[in-house]
Amino acid sequence: MGAIGILTAGGDCPGLNAVIRAVTRTCEVEGRPVLGIEEGWDGLMTGKVRPMGRDEVGGIIGAGGTILGTSRLDPYVHGDGYASVRATVERFDLDAVVVVGGDGTLRSAAKLAEEGLPCIGVPKTIDNDIAHTDVTFGFHTAVQIATDAIDRLRTTAESHHRVMLVEVMGRSVGWIAAYAGIAGGADAILVPEEHWNLDDLTETLIERRDRGRPYSIVVVAEGITPPPEIGDHDAGVDVFGFARLGGVSYLLAPLVEARTGIETRVVVLGHTQRGGSPTAYDRILATRLGAKAARAAMAGESGKMVSLRGDDIELVGLAEACADPRPLPRDRFDVASLFFG
Ligand code: F6P
Repeated sequence: MGAIGILTAGGDCPGLNAVIRAVTRTCEVEGRPVLGIEEGWDGLMTGKVRPMGRDEVGGIIGAGGTILGTSRLDPYVHGDGYASVRATVERFDLDAVVVVGGDGTLRSAAKLAEEGLPCIGVPKTIDNDIAHTDVTFGFHTAVQIATDAIDRLRTTAESHHRVMLVEVMGRSVGWIAAYAGIAGGADAILVPEEHWNLDDLTETLIERRDRGRPYSIVVVAEGITPPPEIGDHDAGVDVFGFARLGGVSYLLAPLVEARTGIETRVVVLGHTQRGGSPTAYDRILATRLGAKAARAAMAGESGKMVSLRGDDIELVGLAEACADPRPLPRDRFDVASLFFG
């Protein structure tokens, strides 16, 4: 009987350690060896592998980051797919690999599964942009962190009569922006999925001031299309070829200030949204997903992703799950917008 491997790849996310712990313990109960693959796909390509057991995963459920490390390397971008991981698979007698990652990582896992390496995907991202699962672990924690920040920024914005642009992560979707904006009582939210323009935004802020509310919280999703007044905002691409985002609010702020006459400040929350301890919700979700993934891997399943459906953890097709986008639904934005202005 071979081993079950586990790797975490792509950007880190609160809850990764809970998955690693659950996979390790679930396999251990069945007497199945578990190997931790270090630094994401890099470890599978170069043979950086270590044995895992209950002592290795003791006390990590509440820890942020990933004890296995991660990287943005990829066997299809930086290697020849299965051919570049085969030596490690054979050397360590891996029967299957549990791959914990976002859409790019899961797409590569789906391709490896097609090439013959049994893979089970576990969706991970604070962005909540993976289809065919109700939510991804990490999202809840990121929303809580952003909401806490908005609460703090509101009091200083109010004291100084300022507009505060609070920029949150999310890539091309506005899930974090909308949810943190609802929870934090944002006065305006800009998301990639919804059309917006500078005139309407600044009119809202001016009306609010004229009503005697001379401060505002505007939540800005990092992936918004910049208004024509800014022009192209290109921060380059990462190693996957994904656009590198973050900072559009710095370009927006002077325009808002010039049009409203209200002093405008920017806070880009950035990687604080990914760091630190996961919420209890994310710990439990990640644990349930990890346990299900381990059972699927031991049962010889492949090309599947574990998914939250309602209150159940199910298996869905991995290739299908990462083929579809998952934008913020209109009804969530509609609820948020009830409180604008
Ligand atoms: O996909 C998760 C995410 O945190 C995005 O929200 C963000 O745009 C990106 O990763 C940042 O990536 P990096 O850690 O490479 O800067």
